[in-house]
Amino acid sequence: MLPQRVAEEIETNRQRYVAELTDFLRIPSVSTDSEYAENTRQSAEWVVNKLKKLGFQTELRETAGHPVVCGHLVSDASLPTLLIYGHYDVQPPDPLDEWVTPPFSPDIRDGYIYARGATDNKGQCLTYFEAMEAILAVSGKLPLNVKVLVEGEEEIGSPNLGPFLQANLDELKTDVIAISDGSQFAPDIPAITYGLRGLSYLEVGVQGPRFDLHSGSFGGLVANPVQVLSEMLAQLKNEDGTVAIPNFYDDVLELDPRERQEMAALSVDEVELRKYLGVDELVGEPDRSIVERKTARPTLDVNGIWGGFAGEGAKTIIPARAGAKVSMRLVPYQRAATINELFKNFVYSIAPPGVEIQISEMHGSDPVLVERDQPAIQAAARAIEFGFGKYPLFIREGGSIPIVGLFQEELGCKSILLMGWGSPDDGAHSPNERFSLEDFHRGILSAAALFYALEESFEA
Ligand code: BES
Ligand code: MN
Repeated sequence: MLPQRVAEEIETNRQRYVAELTDFLRIPSVSTDSEYAENTRQSAEWVVNKLKKLGFQTELRETAGHPVVCGHLVSDASLPTLLIYGHYDVQPPDPLDEWVTPPFSPDIRDGYIYARGATDNKGQCLTYFEAMEAILAVSGKLPLNVKVLVEGEEEIGSPNLGPFLQANLDELKTDVIAISDGSQFAPDIPAITYGLRGLSYLEVGVQGPRFDLHSGSFGGLVANPVQVLSEMLAQLKNEDGTVAIPNFYDDVLELDPRERQEMAALSVDEVELRKYLGVDELVGEPDRSIVERKTARPTLDVNGIWGGFAGEGAKTIIPARAGAKVSMRLVPYQRAATINELFKNFVYSIAPPGVEIQISEMHGSDPVLVERDQPAIQAAARAIEFGFGKYPLFIREGGSIPIVGLFQEELGCKSILLMGWGSPDDGAHSPNERFSLEDFHRGILSAAALFYALEESFEA
């Protein structure tokens, strides 16, 4: 499938690819933190420069937030088009003191490159650019027309990419989309992802008295916002781990028997997993396998909570206010907009007297399912088999990539290839995030093979 000379070209340039990745990873493109806004832009410019070297027509496109990188390289107008999507922004690196080496000083140890963004998503995104560079070096043109869309706000919910997509539907029109922003099922067990969870993320504020009160003088008279918030949060879930918000499960698609069987067959070493996580028990819905629970069932989690006195020693107060961030992972066919409403209605309905509740929506994205029985998916499977030496499994992922739902609905593209080159233990969003250099290399090989596999599948 992949011409031998392209594979050799990729082999020859291994070191240089790592050097380029190192360069890319040095830029602290933390999208959520305005202190890093300039760096975030630099990261976008890094992508533009890389694409220009490949001969792409490309530029930074301004949005209300961080810029989008768009580019295209037309090979032959009669050929089909592949759009490559990725993100150049990264999560904040904290807690800093838990990093063995600093997050933006990439370090190579034991075959891994350690840095924020290594796997999520700079390393995985770069595989496509290096693959195209190798193909172009050998044959002068790509087997397909290629469009590139790399954004800088994925980690904050892609708030401006939806409108950008709407405004540029023609320009972004494509036959197939490739995204590598997830992981293999396990190290050395490659997979194609055909499902992503969606996300509803809200913030709840509880306002009590006008200011912190002496708990001796006023205790017994006023509702305590920290207490009230805790009690409300506790009511969001049932003891068996299910979500208690009325109608929350109305639109949840039950797994079909084939999927249930497949998921049951995916063996997860629970003892190993508990060890990795540092917990002595896993929780969750009864009668559902681990894989099912973490990819195909919705969840609710409190991400953070604040209020009152948490400093050294003791302080006797009734705090004036408290707050929490709550997120829910959604599965097909739940909709973020609907779930947001259900959440708000329920929380308002259980609020006791004596406090004021304020709820704001942070971000939302809809879950995704991709039809597995289509030629582009089979082409992707062959490309992965070539690059990783193993035929991929088919899995759903628990994470979210907010724009993918809009690729289906607005751009009308049903051929979406979600192929994670990383590994679940890469530590995305955690301290000491890393990417295996072997996976980086195999990702480049698979990405290169994908161009040819897709070309063959379109010809057929
Ligand atoms: N790469 C992840 C999404 C992902 C995680 C896919 C695990 C497959 C497996 C992505 O960068 C991410 O973290 N997305 C956020 C989106 C959110 C901020 C709207 C997520 O899932 O939390
Ligand atoms: Mn990502």
